[in-house]
Amino acid sequence: MNLSAIVADIAAEMAEAPERGAPADYIPALAQVDPRRFGIAIVEADGTCHLAGDAEQPFSIQSISKVFALTLALGAVGDQLWQRVGREPSGTAFNSIVQLETEGGIPRNPFINAGAIVVADMLLGNHEPREAIGEMLRFVRGLAGEEDIVIDAAVAQAEMETGHRNHALAHYMRAFGNLHHPVERVMGVYFHFCALAMSCRQLALAGRYLMARGVNPGAGRSVVSPQRARRINALMMSCGHYDGSGEFAFRVGLPGKSGVGGGILAIVPGRASIAVWSPGLNARGNSQLGTLALERLVQRTGWSVFDPQAG
Ligand code: DON
Repeated sequence: MNLSAIVADIAAEMAEAPERGAPADYIPALAQVDPRRFGIAIVEADGTCHLAGDAEQPFSIQSISKVFALTLALGAVGDQLWQRVGREPSGTAFNSIVQLETEGGIPRNPFINAGAIVVADMLLGNHEPREAIGEMLRFVRGLAGEEDIVIDAAVAQAEMETGHRNHALAHYMRAFGNLHHPVERVMGVYFHFCALAMSCRQLALAGRYLMARGVNPGAGRSVVSPQRARRINALMMSCGHYDGSGEFAFRVGLPGKSGVGGGILAIVPGRASIAVWSPGLNARGNSQLGTLALERLVQRTGWSVFDPQAG
């Protein structure tokens, strides 16, 4: 299987794709990104990288950071985390508030905004916000093995000023006692996580522990236990695309996490960590061409968690 040729073909096809979706416009800095951009990176288990298109261009990873935040929080508080965050798909938009009222302020899962805000509250712990943000940055740099990953402060600041729905989610959960720190401090942490800027190549490198039973093959060190890696993958499959998670599982058949910046991280356990990026989103807030590219990739490789012998 010639993965370099496959990613080159897919990038060429995506350059011609007529339906590109629309970039998120509720975060001003994201609305300005060129919708013609497309990048793809595959990192294989042995570390071989296959890149095509804008794979080296940093973009705002947004909600993909929720995977790294969950990983860090499980390390910090362990399975107690599940007393404050559920593990069910929400079937509602990523920023929805409706279920919180009937479900006592416990978000459905850690990958919707409300869930990730509770995770940020846990990571704040006894730290100052800047310490929790610095810890995340060090963690992601270590996973990718690259020091030049940064947080885009302008994106974080814009979201602090315009993120009224997120603030509302946080206040609502605080009213239920499921947020332990003042809303402003938690939101500072949450928005800075979302504003991590990474390229497809860096993101695929950072996701390696999820394909390798919890071990970062680059550093040769265990990030999480094999069981925890399986569980994070399970949540990515069931909840990683919000109310589009069923459709993504149907079309792609891999654990995946999307972000409103147009990125998707997808994992082929034992085989590969994949990142795609194209800023135009579909109606559910997931990358239009990113999803299409992954669908074509699995058609050509046979990769699926439902048929591990294929490919
Ligand atoms: O909080 C927000 O709304 C954004 N910072 C992140 C949302 C996101 O990426 C959901 N993606 N589809």
